[in-house]
Formats: sequence, structure tokens, C-alpha cells
Amino acid sequence: MPAESITITDNRTGDSFEIPIVNGGVASDQWRKALPDVMFHDPGFMATSACESAVTFLDGDAGILRYRGYPIEQLAEKSTYLEVAYLLLHGDLPTPEQYAGWVTDITYHTFIHENVRKRFLEGFHYDAHPMGMLVSAVAALSTFYSDAKDIHDPASRDKQIVRLIAKMPTLAAAAHRFSVGMPFVYPDNSLEFAANFLSMMWKVAEPRFAANPALAHALDVLFILHADHEQNCSTTAMRTVGSAHADPYSATAAAAAALYGPRHGGANEAVIRMLTEIGSLDNVSAFIESVKSGKGSRLQGFGHRVYKSYDPRARIIKQVADEVFEVTGRNPLLDIALKLEEAALSDDYFISRRLYPNVDFYSGLIYQAMGFPVEMFPVLFAIPRTAGWLSHWAELLEDDAKIARPRQLYVGAAERDYVPISDR
Ligand code: CMC
Repeated sequence: MPAESITITDNRTGDSFEIPIVNGGVASDQWRKALPDVMFHDPGFMATSACESAVTFLDGDAGILRYRGYPIEQLAEKSTYLEVAYLLLHGDLPTPEQYAGWVTDITYHTFIHENVRKRFLEGFHYDAHPMGMLVSAVAALSTFYSDAKDIHDPASRDKQIVRLIAKMPTLAAAAHRFSVGMPFVYPDNSLEFAANFLSMMWKVAEPRFAANPALAHALDVLFILHADHEQNCSTTAMRTVGSAHADPYSATAAAAAALYGPRHGGANEAVIRMLTEIGSLDNVSAFIESVKSGKGSRLQGFGHRVYKSYDPRARIIKQVADEVFEVTGRNPLLDIALKLEEAALSDDYFISRRLYPNVDFYSGLIYQAMGFPVEMFPVLFAIPRTAGWLSHWAELLEDDAKIARPRQLYVGAAERDYVPISDR
């Protein structure tokens, strides 16, 4: 049987080193012992594993995504977002008693301190982007819960986890209401998680907002699909900040800030803008050509660092879209999206680079049909991803992970002497 190791020969000296392969990885401390002056140069972490994790399994070539071993297809069909959040955090599906306790805990932590809303959120400029408001509000929560600094106390950790998952929809809806000049709606603890969020978003003067059950269910499925995605950019931000032992609100704010970027959580907003700009089926071919020439923008909602075949979440989302459009009517941009997908999937440029639709290609169309403004799209991503971020944060603390501190290859100037400004 071949050895589970690799042998490296340093051609400068002729020395050879055997380094074990453990769980498919080569430990950097073994490498460093053998070659202390040679770094891995891996910007963007293309081939660097930064942690061991038991949360999410992803096989990009096969298009497989599993949370704690459960296929995403089964969870999307049979579970709820709150059950999935429990699964991600605790490692196993809850018993009926555990689930009831968890749902009660989340439901009774949905309120936010009045000062967060009145003094903090309402202090923003009238046209503030809701994602910017959310990022800042989550960071501000750390000043309201000083016990959050107690990150080594499991009971305190659990309390902050419940608070964050529960308050995220309240903050998200509050940011939206402020940005459109509507009064804040308090959580209705008689409603389920997604329905409660929709009530905080859309309630006007009715005593009780009853969300369309099909839309509340569709949103819950979208929350499941977005709950975790192993070491993506925002989760890496969460782990990096968490590794410095910052409190979970500060670390979650950092993760949400990463999610704000158009290459990550902002991509579905970019998809809607792209489809609107294309405007008609007649313009699809010209748009594809401009993408291929490299002169235009990229095809938004296509391609993924890890998935090199169809993103399994995109497949489920396409089904959800049909359910939503039955209630809301068809989003007029859908036909352009379908033609764009068809054109790209039969074009050698996209085939040879293994570029397929990702989760964001259709999610924006659903959100738009449900009435969400595009500015809310990254916010809608941040709500469920909070469960994933916190699962990784808890795992990192349990593993007593080292502080994240990459190395660099210095390519700047050699030592030189300071020249006074009058001599320059
Ligand atoms: N449209 C056109 N060409 C593309 C695209 C695209 N969407 N994505 C990648 N390529 C090309 C790229 O130009 C390059 O071509 P070449 O080899 O000729 O230089 C090749 O494919 C490899 O691209 P890359 O930039 O090295 O790939 P990456 O793994 O660094 O980028 C990505 C991944 C998601 C940033 C990128 O595919 C992209 O910008 N997609 C559009 C934005 C998007 O949809 N983002 C959402 C990601 S999924 C949500 C999530 O999980 O967070």
C-alpha cells in the first residue's frame, strides 16, 4: 500500500523530507521543520486548509453540500431553518424536547434594546444602505451585552448565540423600515421565525400580519440553503476575528462586513442589476459576447471558487422560484435569466472554465418577486448565515485554535535611509 505521505526534495541542498498526509492535508508545522525558509504562497487560500471542521462538507466537483452529514436536499425538503441552525451548532438534529426549548429560546430573544433602534439605528442618514446599518448594529450589540466577552464560559457563549440568531431578523427589518421611512414593527412572538420576519418587514396598520404561508415557507427554505457554506470569505472573517478572542458580536459584524462585498453576499444584487441592464431577450447574445471578451462585466451569479459543477443550492432554488412565482406572479426578468443560463451552459467559454449558476443566480429573482428591495439582498443572506458563522466560532473556541496570522512574501524595497523632505 502506498505511504500516506509526500516526499519533498530541496534541490538547493539535495535533502529529502517525508511529510505525513493527515485527513488529506500536510501539516504546516512538519513542513516548517523541514524547510523553515520556504513559505507556501497561496493568496486567496486556493490550496490552504486553515482549520479542521466538522460543520459542513462540500465537494465542489460532485456538487455535494451536507450540513453535519445531512444532504442539503433533504434538509431543504424536510427541515426548518431553526432546526438546521440547531443542527449546525450542536452537531445533531434535536429531539422534540430540545427543539421545543430551542425555538422558545430564539422566540423570546427577538426584541432589541430600545436604544439600539431609537438612538443607534435612527441616527443613520435617511438613505443609509440597510446592510451597512446591519453590520454596525451587530457590532454595537457588543456594547449592550458586556457578558459576551466571557467567551470561555460555554453558558455565556450559548446565550450570545441565541441572542444573535434571534435578533438578526429584528435588526434586518428595522434597517429596512428606517430606510423607507416606515415605523419600526416589534417582533410578534406568536409567529414562526420566517413569518415573524415578514411581519416586521411588511406590517402596516393591521393588528396582526399574516404572511402568505407559501412565501414564509419559501423564505425558510432559502434560509436553510444559506445557513452555512464552510470556509467562505465571511466565515473566514468570523474565524479570523474570533481567533483573536473578540466577542461574538464584533466577530459577527466582521463576517457580515465581508458578506457585504459584491463578490460574496452582494452577488444576487449584481444579478438583478445585470438582468435589468440586459433588458430584453434580444440582448442576451451580445451580453454573453461582452462577458467572453473580458471587456464587459462578469456573468453575475455564475462561477464559484469551490463548485466546479452545478451548485446544488441553485437547483433547489429553481424549484423554490416556481413556488414563489405561483403566488407573486412571474418575475419578468426570469425569462432573461433562463435564456442567459441556457446560452452560457452551451458556450465553450463557460464550459471549459466550469462556470455554472451559483446560489445567487436565482435567489435575487425570488427576493425581488417577494417585494424585497435589492439593498436587502445581502441582509437576507446575513440572517441565516449567522447560524453558520456562530457554529464555526464555537468550534474554533472548542478547538482552542491559534490566532490567525498568515505570513507573507516581502517584495518591497530593501533597507534605505530616510531623506529629509527638503532634500527630496
Ligand atoms: N463570468 C465570466 N467569467 C468568469 C466568471 C464569471 N462569473 N467567473 C469566473 N470567470 C472566469 C475568469 O475570468 C477566469 O478566466 P481566465 O482563466 O480566462 O482568466 C476563470 O473563469 C477563473 O476565474 P477566477 O476569478 O480565477 O475564479 P475564482 O474562483 O477566483 O472566482 C468567483 C470565483 C465567484 C469570485 C467568480 O466566479 C465570480 O466573480 N463570479 C461572479 C460573482 C458571483 O456570482 N459571486 C457569487 C459567488 S457564490 C455565493 C457564495 O457562495 O458566497
